[in-house]
Amino acid sequence: MISSFYEKIVGSSSQESNIPKILCVGLTCLDIVQTCKRFPKEDSDLSSVEHRWQRGGNASNTCTVLSLLGDSCEFFGWLSSKEHFNFLQNDMQKYKIDFSHCPLTEDYSCPVSTVILSLSSGSRTIIHHNPNLPETALEKFKELNLLEKFKKLNLLDYSWIHFEGRNTTETISMIQYVEAFNHSLIKETPNNSQFKNLPKDVPITISVELEKPKSSLLDLLPYADVAFISKDFAKSRGYNNMSETLKHMSLEAKSGATIICAWGDRGAMARTPHGIMVQSPAYPPLRIVDTLGAGDTFNAAVLHHLNKVKTIFIEREKIIQAIPENSDEILNLNIGSKHEIKYNHNIESLEYCKTKFITQATLQEAITFGCHIAGAKVGIRGYDGLNKVFGNKSEMVIS
Ligand code: ADP
Ligand code: FRU
Repeated sequence: MISSFYEKIVGSSSQESNIPKILCVGLTCLDIVQTCKRFPKEDSDLSSVEHRWQRGGNASNTCTVLSLLGDSCEFFGWLSSKEHFNFLQNDMQKYKIDFSHCPLTEDYSCPVSTVILSLSSGSRTIIHHNPNLPETALEKFKELNLLEKFKKLNLLDYSWIHFEGRNTTETISMIQYVEAFNHSLIKETPNNSQFKNLPKDVPITISVELEKPKSSLLDLLPYADVAFISKDFAKSRGYNNMSETLKHMSLEAKSGATIICAWGDRGAMARTPHGIMVQSPAYPPLRIVDTLGAGDTFNAAVLHHLNKVKTIFIEREKIIQAIPENSDEILNLNIGSKHEIKYNHNIESLEYCKTKFITQATLQEAITFGCHIAGAKVGIRGYDGLNKVFGNKSEMVIS
């Protein structure tokens, strides 16, 4: 139990502390949300109970929740000055989400989702439109080369980069760029003193979310240190529950990956780098109000927790490193699992997982925290108020 240690290092709000940033790469869009008593019949005329529009998109929602939980976070995805983008950018500013490195293009119009929330079933039905899908626009889009924009980031600023599973080719090239950065950190420092400038020179943890039911996203799995698999994606692969999903997905992931699967009111389950399963029930609110973005909220809460665990782990190692060099107690500062977990030679990524800080206990805590925060989210409209829920949960023990 190191909760006082946790408080000392991390403080109550990491926006005020020195915890490096979490970067979320993916989409931001406009969500037009209609809350209805029940899901409408086709060709009917139904009045909604409430109507609103809000900033949406998985990476963008995850940033909102990270920021409410006190994390310093950044969004990286296409923006434009076209209609609605002003609203999205102002809203990011309101939530203290950095978007200063986002690529801009006038060829990009705002993606829009029309969402129907049903109060009787708790479902959220999303009709998404991305105006840049037509092939010609996509080709033009590619010419702008997202990787070149990504390379402008100073990777030393980030502790964790979370990729929303989208265009696989572009996402893989960005991940490979991060992997090369991680390798350069290890190469540049002599054996026993790697990461001597902690916490700055620490490999970035790479997480990937497979959410949309598209089989091409599976190509991203071998690149993830931590993978989030949604129930929609799992069902599209023919899996009926979380344990089946974790069992099959672990065969496609790189060795030592952590795999996490959330499943609505069944809660969440995860597999540690060493293959141990952990599980959390869902924590339903008194009344289900808004399930839009429940998965993004769960992911954010898990990222928040694991990133803090990582920071604490590094700080501990730093203290241990202060022990005289010839002492038996010196530990290798490799925060990776290279020496414990075999390489998987069937995968394209030659990276090993840098997730020694993820243990059975820390992963159990992370998904339990995720279910608490996501459970609270489905009981409120939008995301405001999660910071208050977090106030009550932030005392959770980190082992
Ligand atoms: P999405 O469909 O948005 O990807 P899920 O429906 O799988 O996400 O939900 C993610 C998490 O949100 C779940 O693991 C659970 O903790 C919480 N959650 C979602 N729906 C409910 C619900 N009806 N009751 C309680 N918790 C829920
Ligand atoms: C929720 C969400 C919405 C958005 C849609 C995009 O997870 O990010 O905010 O409209 O999914 O697919």
